[in-house]
Amino acid sequence: MSAAPDFGRLASPADDYSGLDLLATGVLVIEADRTVGYANQSAEVLLDTSRRHLIGQPVRRLFTDEHQFERLMQSAAAGDLAQPPHVVELRRPLREPLVVQAMASALDEQGRRLLLELTEIEQQLRVTREDRQLGLSEANRQLLRNLAHEIRNPLGGIRGAAQLLERELPLREQREFTQVIIAEADRLQSLVDRLLAPHRAPRVVAEYSVHEICERVRAVILAEFPRGLEIQRDYDASMPSGRGDKEQLIQAVLNIVRNAAQALAGRIADGDAQVILRTRVARHVAIARRHVRLAAELTVIDNGPGVAEELKDRIFFPLVSGRDDGTGLGLTLAQAFVLANDGSIEFDSKPGRTAFRILMPLT
Ligand SMILES: Nc1ncnc2c1ncn2[C@@H]1O[C@H](COP(=O)(O)OP(=O)(O)OP(=O)(O)O)[C@@H](O)[C@H]1O
Ligand SMILES: [Mg+2]
Repeated sequence: MSAAPDFGRLASPADDYSGLDLLATGVLVIEADRTVGYANQSAEVLLDTSRRHLIGQPVRRLFTDEHQFERLMQSAAAGDLAQPPHVVELRRPLREPLVVQAMASALDEQGRRLLLELTEIEQQLRVTREDRQLGLSEANRQLLRNLAHEIRNPLGGIRGAAQLLERELPLREQREFTQVIIAEADRLQSLVDRLLAPHRAPRVVAEYSVHEICERVRAVILAEFPRGLEIQRDYDASMPSGRGDKEQLIQAVLNIVRNAAQALAGRIADGDAQVILRTRVARHVAIARRHVRLAAELTVIDNGPGVAEELKDRIFFPLVSGRDDGTGLGLTLAQAFVLANDGSIEFDSKPGRTAFRILMPLT
């Protein structure tokens, strides 16, 4: 945010703070008389109360335990920034209380007006997890991209030389060796091509329909697994269209659904393999640390054995595979494509139910 809101000016219209609506963290401005002076959109969501209702309310009423509130006020008035955030419980009118982390800071020298930041703890955990995952895989992707380039260049030479050599060889048994060199060079070539794919094709940004993507993927997978696999649709008909690179998103979803179908091999044999493509419109979600008002949520759910425990921390990393004939690139690419379109991807898996969830911003 370049233009910081001017908190010094009292009784300012909500417009002055409109930038704060972009934050995934709840923000309240507390006036000298300990009433709410301002609440951003995330605070409305956390407290499950409209801004109109919050403004003017005594702040202590928002807490289930008034002592928690007092302690928070004291630490802010003391200007104690080094303190870890307080864990407090928020009262919500029609729902169960919500545990959040709260940090208060003084807005003026006397500590009369305060800024209160509220972060949902579950969201905090998710953000750190996401950050770690993104950071690591970005470093990995960079390394891999460089490596792929280094491998690609001499590969053409190796293949060409083997072809030339083949022409000189009189015996068929001898030519079998050059055939092996050529076939292996081709295999490596296609591996490095896949590694470099997300960085080569130019992005084509246009309007896309989430359901059209689902339908395309469904048709491809049903053609690949013609027997014993059911792909159910559970679509939200009110889904608006999004903007992004449709082909990249199709590839991302395809990789995920193909993994699900492959994981279901055992159940396909038994005849009760099931994949569900579920879409929902999601409001006020955090995608890669940004607060997004409206998002498309696409969840791919399968009833297979689940992601192996020892792979769970690493499945988005390149070359990590639990299948004998897997290259371990499917999810790396899916993640790269989704990130390139400002979305996020995460999964949750236990035996009998694995769900990969893609969130794409719609606004
Ligand atoms: N729905 C799922 N159920 C169980 N395990 C899964 C599922 N999706 C992914 N996995 C595990 O994650 C691993 C990594 O998947 P990824 O798509 O990245 O690579 P791959 O499928 O092994 O190879 P590739 O997609 O490059 O052919 C898989 O090998 C599998 O072990
Ligand atoms: Mg795969």
